[in-house]
Parts: sequence; structure tokens; C-alpha cells
Amino acid sequence: MTKSSSSHTTSTSSQQSQKVEAYYQLHAQIYDATRWSFLFGRENLLDKIPDLPSQPHILEIGCGTGKNMERLSYHFPDASIVGIDLSPDMLQKAKKRLGSTKDIELKLGQYGKQSFNYDSFDLILVSYSLTMFDDNIEDVFEQICKDLKPQGYIAAVDFHTSPFNWFCKWMEMNHVDFSEQLFSLFKKYFSPSDIELKKAYGGLWTYFQFVGRQS
Ligand SMILES: C[S@@+](CC[C@H](N)C(=O)[O-])C[C@H]1O[C@@H](n2cnc3c(N)ncnc32)[C@H](O)[C@@H]1O
Repeated sequence: MTKSSSSHTTSTSSQQSQKVEAYYQLHAQIYDATRWSFLFGRENLLDKIPDLPSQPHILEIGCGTGKNMERLSYHFPDASIVGIDLSPDMLQKAKKRLGSTKDIELKLGQYGKQSFNYDSFDLILVSYSLTMFDDNIEDVFEQICKDLKPQGYIAAVDFHTSPFNWFCKWMEMNHVDFSEQLFSLFKKYFSPSDIELKKAYGGLWTYFQFVGRQS
């Protein structure tokens, strides 16, 4: 049965997090119907994740409406899976989707502002969430390293950049950072086992997939 929990985060939320939370009050309602057309690479990322130990602990940071968690529980049926997200509206959708799925926990809050009951995770998944985080992104990478077991895997997919300034600006208006820094940070903090940069819509933007371990 899905468990949910919340933490006291509002008073410590950054401005960016408050904007993201407000953005998803509306966008949660249309998220699953629309995002298939531009959040590419989510499905086959899970196929690149190597075998994990039995009964793995898995975390998704910024789990949104729970689409990836549903697929994770199919891929790793004996896993216990935690999803954290700052948007109550997105988590409400995830709860609806995952209601009858066992060993899934949904946590409301900003990643990094609370600790987990598990000592650490065998796999951490970040799918199109880190480009919406605020400026202290290196702190987030430090936190991921602490939350991962030493031999644990990180799997990530996210926007990289675009040659079109107008497009980057438009994405910024949607609270998404297109400054290319994330891909370099993954390579700095983790040793890749599978890494790809891909074009979307003939090069309107690029996105990356990264699977790796702590260096
Ligand atoms: C584009 S959605 C991606 C959702 C899901 N991972 C997917 O692949 O469909 C980004 C999600 O990250 C969440 N998010 C953004 N910043 C966050 C933070 N600092 N802590 C936790 N969640 C965050 C948002 O609320 C949103 O649900």
C-alpha cells in the first residue's frame, strides 16, 4: 500500500521552489496528457539501469505524478521505492496512480531539506527535476552522494541546452534552466556506465541520459 508523508518545508522554501510549486498547481492537471511530447528519454532510461541487489532501496527525486515510480516497481518488483516532490498537486496525482502499489512511499518536501529513514539508496533516479532546482545545485549533488550507497547507481535524464536563445528564455519562463551545467556536474560527481546526448525535434534542443556510480 502506498504511504504518504509530509514535512514542514514551506517556511524554508527558496523562491524558485515556491514558483515551481505554484506552476504545478495548474500544470499537474495536464501533465501526463502533455509531457510525452517533450520529456523524451524517460522510458528507455530505465532499461539502461543495471541489475540491482535484491530488495533494493530506490529514491526518485522530483517524482511528479509517479509515472517513473510505476515503471520502477515493474522493473524491480522486490524494491522499496521512495518518491519526494515539493508539489502537493503532483503528489496527489502520484497517489492516485500508485494507490494500490505496495512498498511505495511518497514524501512531500524539497529534496535536501529532510533526511530519510533508510541509511542510503541502491539507486537514485532524477528525471527532468534537477533543471527546476534553485541555484545551489552543487549542494544537491553533495546530498545525492550522501544518500547513495557507495556502490549505488544514479540514473538521470534531463534537458541539456538549445542553440536558440528564444527557446532557452521560454523554458526559463517555465522555470527550467537550460544553461548546460547539469551534464558536466554528473560527469564530475559520477563515473558513467552509460551516457548519451540526444537531439529533440531535429536539434531544437538536446537532452542527456546518464547512468553511473560515484567516482
Ligand atoms: C518536470 S517534473 C518531472 C516529474 C517526473 N520526474 C517525470 O519524469 O515525469 C519536475 C518535478 O520536480 C519537482 N521538483 C522541482 N524542484 C524540486 C525540489 N527542490 N525538491 C523536490 N521536488 C522538486 C517538481 O515539483 C516536479 O514535480
